[in-house]
Amino acid sequence: MTADPDLPAVLRPVWDALDAATSRRTPFTLGALATVAPDGSPGVRSVILRDWDPGQGVLGFATDERSAKVREVRAEPRVALVLWDDDAQVQVRLGGRATVVADPAERWRRWQGLGPRTRRGYATTTAPGAAVDPDAGVGQDDDGAAWFDRFAWVEVVVDHVDRLDLSADPHDRAVADRGAEGWLARRVAP
Ligand SMILES: Cc1cc2nc3c(=O)[nH]c(=O)nc-3n(C[C@H](O)[C@H](O)[C@H](O)COP(=O)(O)O)c2cc1C
Repeated sequence: MTADPDLPAVLRPVWDALDAATSRRTPFTLGALATVAPDGSPGVRSVILRDWDPGQGVLGFATDERSAKVREVRAEPRVALVLWDDDAQVQVRLGGRATVVADPAERWRRWQGLGPRTRRGYATTTAPGAAVDPDAGVGQDDDGAAWFDRFAWVEVVVDHVDRLDLSADPHDRAVADRGAEGWLARRVAP
């Protein structure tokens, strides 16, 4: 899908960078995803951005169904991401709402899109964050169906963008929010 023709010009470099980040490895491929736990405490961790729908403004990433982040976004879908491109000297901060995809056909399609090494990551029978028995170690199985059961595909509908360009002199910052009429962008002081 292509980007909305009415997309504000300041968002185009972000859309292009997210396209690139999810088609090949770029500095934006690895993002930091922040969530809020039920007790209100913030959490942040690295995730690989694997899909970007420029028309809908939706990001996708793969994770473990048993992970804390999945529990957290089920209870509180509002999330934030920060991306940093050290070569371009550009930071992009995103806000949005996350959904753990339930549709089995869509989950299967996303699972098929992962490489064998990534899929093997779901072989652990011990849930992420669970205590490891010092004698037994982390459990592993060879059951492809169980790996798929442990896999979750999370989509983030992006509704806020904040782009800071430190290569510009003076530094350049633009923010945009998605409303009923589409995206509304404005330049703000860095
Ligand atoms: C370079 C790198 C890439 C990672 N990519 C992912 C990812 O795509 N999905 C994921 O769930 N965890 C990924 N992780 C692991 C997470 O950062 C985190 O440790 C794990 O998912 C548990 O997070 P949680 O307990 O907050 O759910 C990655 C870690 C690193 C260092």
